[in-house]
Amino acid sequence: MYDGVKVIALIPAAGKGSRMKTERNKLMVTLEGRPLIEKTLEAFENHDWVDEIIVVTRDIVIEGDFRKISHRVQGGDTRQESVARGLEVIEDPEAYVLVHDGARPYVTGDLISRVIEGIAETGAAIPGVRVKDTVKKVEGNRVKKTLNREELLSVQTPQGFKARLLKEAYGRFGEQAVTDEATLMEMMDQPVLTVEGDYRNIKITTPEDLAGIKGVNQMKIGIGYDVHQLKSHRDLIIGGVKIPYEKGLMGHSDADVLIHAVMDALLGALGEGDIGQHFPDKDEAYKGISSLVLLAKTRDLMMAKGYRILNIDGVVVAQKPKLAPYLLEMAKNIAGVLCLEPAMVNIKATTTEGMGFTGLGEGIAAEAVLLIDKEL
Ligand code: CTP
Ligand code: MG
Repeated sequence: MYDGVKVIALIPAAGKGSRMKTERNKLMVTLEGRPLIEKTLEAFENHDWVDEIIVVTRDIVIEGDFRKISHRVQGGDTRQESVARGLEVIEDPEAYVLVHDGARPYVTGDLISRVIEGIAETGAAIPGVRVKDTVKKVEGNRVKKTLNREELLSVQTPQGFKARLLKEAYGRFGEQAVTDEATLMEMMDQPVLTVEGDYRNIKITTPEDLAGIKGVNQMKIGIGYDVHQLKSHRDLIIGGVKIPYEKGLMGHSDADVLIHAVMDALLGALGEGDIGQHFPDKDEAYKGISSLVLLAKTRDLMMAKGYRILNIDGVVVAQKPKLAPYLLEMAKNIAGVLCLEPAMVNIKATTTEGMGFTGLGEGIAAEAVLLIDKEL
């Protein structure tokens, strides 16, 4: 509800996605772990002012759980026809209707709010961004004229209208092919307000659009290295697994050399110094503590900074004992604490063929690299 008015999102998602040239419909392409269309729907599902979602589909099935979806409508041959079919199920003439392309998954809550406030003001509101390129009118491959960029706006969706206006527009001019709803408003001399759009709110149309989106993420890489001495009368804990052996690793905490390497890699990627700065070995609080607890604290720091892990690769360097039987469990422990799919964590072991301190069994070393990213 916005100011006592019902707000309905109408999402045309019945296209073929032919220009994307993917086998699956472009709306089902995986984006951040779920189908693109679900990312689009989520923006409306999570918006406090939006009461209902009407989704128009043909080739795809939406499996996600969306409480606000009130109608699933069968799409038509064109986008315009799909929108018209969705509009038919709207009864309340005073409702605000937000028509939004299923193929624009990067719509934000703020943008949706701006459009809704625009409808309250004028009855019709669309988001737009200034054109960055110089735009020319052409005939074939000949330039006819240069358009004044100051007067141009590149418009997006959601386009918002009072239901009564949109129904009237479709009733009177719906048979004429147009590329957006606002054009129909112009045909009936209805003023349309423009509100600030968002350059990231692109329509996913061709393969470059997906490649471009990935580039908006900021990636960072981190490396971690740790060594502990092997001594009698200590448990051997590596990657959170207690391994039967005559010796264990010395340290202030449980001396989990692999977890320390992973933590250092993560702190490094975050630009947060190292493990010694965050968890000093002088601090009694960390005496004998499970390193998995410290890893969880490092994860919380990462999440507070808005990053997520893309993958981890680690190696434990030990002459003895044989670690192969425990590697999967180590990866599972790390993935569990960091809330990752197990496949995103890879842990290996190697000996140094009897050479050096690891080869002589004086200690165990571990190294880890990982990649993090965040959406900018
Ligand atoms: N759309 C629709 N019904 C149609 C055609 C398009 O609901 N008959 C929807 C699309 O699913 C998309 C939005 O309208 O969410 C914008 O259309 P577009 O980007 O052109 O998508 P497609 O038509 O699927 O792609 P293409 O034109 O490359 O086939
Ligand atoms: Mg199309």
